[in-house]
Amino acid sequence: MIKCENLSHIYQSGSPFEKTALRDINLEIHEGELVAIIGHTGSGKSTLIQHFNALEKPTSGKVYIDGIDLSAPKLNLKQIRQKVGLVFQYPEHQLMEETVRKDIAFGPKNLGLSDEDIADRVISAAHSVGLKDELLDKSPFELSGGEKRRVAIAGVLAMEPKVLVLDEPTAGLDPAGRDELLSLIQKLNDCGMTIVLVSHSMEDVAKIAQRVIVMNDATVIRSGSVAEVFAEAELLQSIGLNVPQISRIVAKLREKGVNISKDIYTTEAAAKALLSLIKKD
Ligand SMILES: Nc1ncnc2c1ncn2[C@@H]1O[C@H](COP(=O)(O)OP(=O)(O)OP(=O)(O)O)[C@@H](O)[C@H]1O
Ligand SMILES: [Mg+2]
Repeated sequence: MIKCENLSHIYQSGSPFEKTALRDINLEIHEGELVAIIGHTGSGKSTLIQHFNALEKPTSGKVYIDGIDLSAPKLNLKQIRQKVGLVFQYPEHQLMEETVRKDIAFGPKNLGLSDEDIADRVISAAHSVGLKDELLDKSPFELSGGEKRRVAIAGVLAMEPKVLVLDEPTAGLDPAGRDELLSLIQKLNDCGMTIVLVSHSMEDVAKIAQRVIVMNDATVIRSGSVAEVFAEAELLQSIGLNVPQISRIVAKLREKGVNISKDIYTTEAAAKALLSLIKKD
């Protein structure tokens, strides 16, 4: 679904402020996957995902979406933006219409759909993010932080993308808002949507991701299942990332000689493993 071949991106090339944000990236994201991209501040995560809907262009290398080469001379940008929905960090800052309904309708309107189709898409996107009908005619500014974020996500879903890319979707939300949003993302993936998620929160990644891509200093240094990546606690810590708290506890228990697998990265799995050890004793 997404393929990068030797992708590099240099900001302000040739100026004294030249900055290599991506260096020789090769990756593939398959249809139906839920992939998390992690990495410390400035490692290039946002720059990378902005290539997925042609918001940024490679300085060198290639990006393909669903087989379409994004550097093709006659690229149909509208088609790409429809296929890949990008939810920016703090997307609620971009809400600007008088009502929630109008905000969600903004994207579909640009697709040139009929009024009836737009109305249908607004309702179904609002429902899929769990927004109640009575909120639709309110001003987005009257809503809570979590609701505003869901309106912004509904606006992207109303484009009916095949891939949803989210940059730090849970940043700044309280724990309940986080959990709600994560279960929404999980649900969209269960319905077949390909999801790419940039996150600083290892707990979030452990909860929902199937695969993790680790970035450091403008390049991809690891890609693997959540278990494989979190088992490399030392590597992650050396590049300034924290493994989930429970992975650290498991590592400590192993140091003390407890026979528990190092692939455990959720509290539920740790509890199960420890209980079975107790039973064995
Ligand atoms: N428009 C720009 N012009 C020049 N340099 C930029 C621009 N945008 C980003 N950069 C630089 O490129 C590098 C990668 O930035 P990017 O925003 O992709 O990182 P990130 O991993 O998303 O960071 P964060 O976790 O803080 O969001 C950083 O050094 C950043 O300062
Ligand atoms: Mg970023």
